[in-house]
Amino acid sequence: MAKKNRQFLLAERPVGLPDDSTYNFIETDLPKLKENEVLVQGEYLSVDPYMRRRMSEGQSYIEPFKLNEPLKGGTVGTVIESKHPSFQQGDTVTGLLDWADYTAVPGEQLRKIDRDQASITTALHVNGMPGLTAYFGLLDIGQPKEGETVVVSGAAGAVGMVVGQIAKIKGCRVVGIAGSEEKNAYLINELGFDAAINYKTTNNIGQELKEACPNGIDIYFDNVGGEISDAVFSLLNFHARVALCGQIAHYNDTKVEMGPRFLTTFLKRSLLLKGFIVTNYSDRHEEGTQQLAKWLSEGKIKYKENIVEGLENAPDAFLGLFRGDNLGKQLVKIR
Ligand SMILES: NC(=O)c1ccc[n+]([C@@H]2O[C@H](COP(=O)([O-])OP(=O)(O)OC[C@H]3O[C@@H](n4cnc5c(N)ncnc54)[C@H](OP(=O)(O)O)[C@@H]3O)[C@@H](O)[C@H]2O)c1
Repeated sequence: MAKKNRQFLLAERPVGLPDDSTYNFIETDLPKLKENEVLVQGEYLSVDPYMRRRMSEGQSYIEPFKLNEPLKGGTVGTVIESKHPSFQQGDTVTGLLDWADYTAVPGEQLRKIDRDQASITTALHVNGMPGLTAYFGLLDIGQPKEGETVVVSGAAGAVGMVVGQIAKIKGCRVVGIAGSEEKNAYLINELGFDAAINYKTTNNIGQELKEACPNGIDIYFDNVGGEISDAVFSLLNFHARVALCGQIAHYNDTKVEMGPRFLTTFLKRSLLLKGFIVTNYSDRHEEGTQQLAKWLSEGKIKYKENIVEGLENAPDAFLGLFRGDNLGKQLVKIR
């Protein structure tokens, strides 16, 4: 019997959190290859918070997903057929592929990965986009120096975990903020964080931060925004740096919140706040990739994955990012 391809299309643009009406899960024939294209069978799909932005219309740093077309995400998989001279059947590759079993993609959009070097899934976190985000945001914007205090929110996720570990490599005191006791125990006991705060159970995040950061805060790596960031801003030292990486607390908002205004603090303390997108550093990705792979092979960076089985469960795995289901990188094992 001919193979079939399951894929998720964007059926409707969600208002607030996505739900079943957001997706259309269909079955089609396998795509036919054009010249220079490669047919890839996906093994692991990454679900990432930025995909929520792509489900909505409007201007962003990346174009919205198109209605009635497949959603896309970072994927590792195997080449089934190739009409591109650089790829052969059996190669392991990574690229931005459909939320699907199979995708036909121009070879230029794929990168080969070596199955013997590290687990192939690391291409979707430490050795991929989230790792590079942590690397450039912390080192280029944060400019950490030995003995400084670094606070990272979303600390037990794909980006946050790498941020904290690089900050430890650089000799900093590292304080994580995450949403469960299990996550915080992992950060301290397995990754060497100096302290971790559970923002979901604390009665006074400002006070807990003050106790965890007796010398104030020199660098804040912001993955979440909202009230957590408000609390951190109050404790920033003179000349502190804020790497504004993500605002997941707001991705499903239907109206813009008016929060306290901290610009006077930024003025009085000569603070630097810089938003960034990992692709700003495209010309330095090779440098970041090599350094992260080295730290990983030396055991200086560890990782954790939360793997949901089955492509059909991708929408729920994606929603799990907003519930905080994942300790480490959220992945979907396609089959
Ligand atoms: N600028 C860039 O180029 C770039 C690149 C990659 C990622 N990012 C951003 O970086 C952030 C982290 O991404 P990631 O891929 O590493 O995701 P992740 O941290 O692995 O997963 C998201 C985590 O966010 C936390 N969270 C969800 N809703 C929250 C809320 N309302 N308040 C506080 N925390 C909340 C949850 O953990 P808890 O249990 O702690 O709540 C959840 O596990 C996201 O904001 C993402 O958009 C930016």
